[in-house]
Amino acid sequence: MREDSRLSLDHAVLDHQHRELAAAADLAHKAHSNGDERMLLQQVEALHEMSAAHFAIEERLMAETDYGDAAVHAEQHREILDQIARCRAQLHAGRFACQSAKLMQFLQEWVASHTLNFDRDLAAHLRARQA
Ligand SMILES: [Fe+2]
Ligand SMILES: [Fe+2]
Repeated sequence: MREDSRLSLDHAVLDHQHRELAAAADLAHKAHSNGDERMLLQQVEALHEMSAAHFAIEERLMAETDYGDAAVHAEQHREILDQIARCRAQLHAGRFACQSAKLMQFLQEWVASHTLNFDRDLAAHLRARQA
């Protein structure tokens, strides 16, 4: 697993989950590079499940701590999940369509970009609330 210290937000639970998500996204990208459709489908499914669980935890923490930007943040979670679900549906339909470089890049980069922007602010808020 590739360690990416940039992703560290100084929040143990979120940091752990972000590392797992980044590892799953890396594996999906690798499967795509190798043309391994079966492995790609497996990893995209894993990524969807892990992301949904992770987002639910963040959204619970936001609700519990009256986070002001919760609605915008949750909306981005929905968009990310929709993208992953679309990719999964295409793979299920036997279409290797989500192999487009753009979507693969999205899968690999959303963890980093969402984490560095939206989650960084949330983690600072949680640290202040010690949640
Ligand atoms: Fe996150
Ligand atoms: Fe988030």
